[in-house]
Amino acid sequence: MPHQHATRAADRARRDHPGDRPARERPAGHRPAEGRVVVVTGAGRGLGRAHALAFARAGARVVVNDLGVALDGGRAGAADRGGSPAGQVAAEIRAAGGEAAVSTDDVATGRGAERLVRTALDRFGRLDTLVNNAGFLRDRMLVNLGEDDWDAVVRVHLKGHFLPMRHAAAHWRAEAKAGRSPRARIVNTTSGAGLLGAVGQGNYAAAKAGVAALTLVAAAEFGRYGVQVNAVAPAARTRMTERAFAADMAAPADGAFDAMAPENVSPLVVYLGSDGCDGVTGRVFEVAGGRIAVMDGWRPAARTDRGGCWEAAALDRPVRELLAASPPPEPVYGAG
Ligand SMILES: NC(=O)c1ccc[n+]([C@@H]2O[C@H](COP(=O)([O-])OP(=O)(O)OC[C@H]3O[C@@H](n4cnc5c(N)ncnc54)[C@H](O)[C@@H]3O)[C@@H](O)[C@H]2O)c1
Repeated sequence: MPHQHATRAADRARRDHPGDRPARERPAGHRPAEGRVVVVTGAGRGLGRAHALAFARAGARVVVNDLGVALDGGRAGAADRGGSPAGQVAAEIRAAGGEAAVSTDDVATGRGAERLVRTALDRFGRLDTLVNNAGFLRDRMLVNLGEDDWDAVVRVHLKGHFLPMRHAAAHWRAEAKAGRSPRARIVNTTSGAGLLGAVGQGNYAAAKAGVAALTLVAAAEFGRYGVQVNAVAPAARTRMTERAFAADMAAPADGAFDAMAPENVSPLVVYLGSDGCDGVTGRVFEVAGGRIAVMDGWRPAARTDRGGCWEAAALDRPVRELLAASPPPEPVYGAG
């Protein structure tokens, strides 16, 4: 089942402490992305659309990218037609008085990713923020998962993050070398499925786990060029989730806070894509409704050291002791 994490992320977020008020809270009316040029991939629908509109409201000029594919990455069907989704969102931004450019490039190709970055530079003369968000699903149990479905999903998410980052970073490295000190930002999109695993989503979970690791590597490598890199694991009502989790995703009828609206994810993305988040890099945030959690990555929970090579036959006891001394893992979404 797709996006089991969507509801569990919301549940987990509800248990979290509300946290301290931000030390550097800005006055209401401050436009955090003023003057920035922001590329959002997969921005024709769902979360990407909400991010693009939020960045425009926050003062950014936005490159709205979307290939306009169906939910499984295939050609758009009747329900998905009706003009270019990227063009429609760009038109919405312009109608509200903002500036937008359209990209219909496939972000998972070298040529598409290069043109995406070039669109920002040619149209607006600069690039400040890259939001990697585009993607699709092809859910199957592993035993039934076809090679094509593996390749397509890993390609769109993992390569679709790597290639735009690579081309954007090449630009920022050149800027840094020319002494122009970028304050650049990359916001990647991972998923609870990638952080904890999800039954029926082996391809997607592996790709999104890769996105989390890639975020850490990019943050470590690009820091010297003035580029901060973070990732969000969202939960929201989009075409990816609205049917599979209709009850959990439904908007409240009584006008109460609509926790699963994609617009709730965008403020964190705008913050991480703006210069106010100085020093925040290499982190993964889960975000749903009004809740934000910092996700803590792999780290040793218990250790032992024999001071020499173990024998397989002698390992059962120490391994069980290590497991007993470690917190139980979070369950895989959809397991049990
Ligand atoms: N909705 C959720 O609860 C949720 C949870 C966790 C992660 N995510 C992730 O958030 C991101 C956005 O998902 P969404 O729910 O808004 O889905 P969506 O289907 O509404 O939007 C994804 C958009 O990406 C576009 N796209 C697909 N392949 C592309 C390509 N190669 N190049 C350019 N554009 C392409 C599609 O045309 C589509 O408009 C995805 O990476 C998804 O995996 C979503």
